[in-house]
Amino acid sequence: MEQLMRNFFLFLSKNKFFTKMAKQYGLRLGAKRFVSGETIDQAVTVIKELNAKKLAATVDYLGEFVDSEQEANERAESSIATINAIGREKLNAQMSVKMTSLGFDISEAVLMNNMRRIMDAAQKNNVFVTIDMEDYERCQRTLEIFKQLKTEYDNIGTVIQAYLYRTEKDIEDLNPYSPNLRLVKGAYKESPEVAFPDKKDVDENFKKIIKMHLLNGNYTAVASHDDNIINFTKEFAKANNIPKSQFEFQMLFGIMPERQLQLAEEGYTMRVYVPFGTDWYGYFMRRLAERPANVAFVLKGMLKK
Ligand code: FDA
Repeated sequence: MEQLMRNFFLFLSKNKFFTKMAKQYGLRLGAKRFVSGETIDQAVTVIKELNAKKLAATVDYLGEFVDSEQEANERAESSIATINAIGREKLNAQMSVKMTSLGFDISEAVLMNNMRRIMDAAQKNNVFVTIDMEDYERCQRTLEIFKQLKTEYDNIGTVIQAYLYRTEKDIEDLNPYSPNLRLVKGAYKESPEVAFPDKKDVDENFKKIIKMHLLNGNYTAVASHDDNIINFTKEFAKANNIPKSQFEFQMLFGIMPERQLQLAEEGYTMRVYVPFGTDWYGYFMRRLAERPANVAFVLKGMLKK
């Protein structure tokens, strides 16, 4: 049943009609639990509150799958405005971007132009940028673009998904770039031909790549709410004399806030992924897919309207 619900929400996450409707109708259906607001100012207020509690942030201007060059360019402008706000307000925050919102499916020229404009602004403001990893179909090209940009900019990283079979090899291939990587389980619906279908195997692979990346001496962001993974990372780092300055934990805004505070209190860098914007639909559906129990929030959200 849980798998069915998961597939259902992941299917809905790609529905363009609902995506458009959601943009027009504002944060609904309980999405406020996971999305910091619709404007930069609202996101800045939330980040200031997090920073005051010793939590760092990475900001995501929500959006994916744009259809036109104009829309992709506008999204890049909004990401640049967000980076400028981080610099101006001196926030302890990084930026996360989804390349499908910046022209990935339109053309190489549009995408690279937007990425370089974003990276120039980020370099000027001393803001680190992480390229989020989207579905498997786009993984190879995302990594190639990351490698290209990493030769031009130092302040860039990307995401590696533990559910993919290819991941171990990607960690090795990327090693010569000494990359700062965010390691995650993976949030998209993938076929058993490319991804481990069993959670147990995903968790084992997650631990394997955490070990590899840390032992390679690279900065590692372990992005997970799973206590097993978090405790494994702490213990592995301790046993191998890996300093707290070589890794951090990351979690999503609105999920396990008490645990976030606890990790920060223990002296770990704890970064919260703070999404904002009107294009919240796909992001919200993936959060429901991760934990169908979240549907209770949807029902409550509906009852409030
Ligand atoms: P798991 O799903 O096993 O959850 C462990 C526990 O955490 C659950 O039992 C529950 O208590 C809690 N939990 C997890 N998800 C929850 C939810 N939605 N609502 C309420 N509780 C929840 N993925 C991707 O493919 N590309 C990317 O670029 C990113 N980027 C990213 C950044 C950051 C900072 C995070 C934390 C995650 C991502 N992800 C991602 C998402 C990631 O792949 C994964 O889907 C989620 O983190 C859920 O997996 P966990 O590791 O938390 O474990």
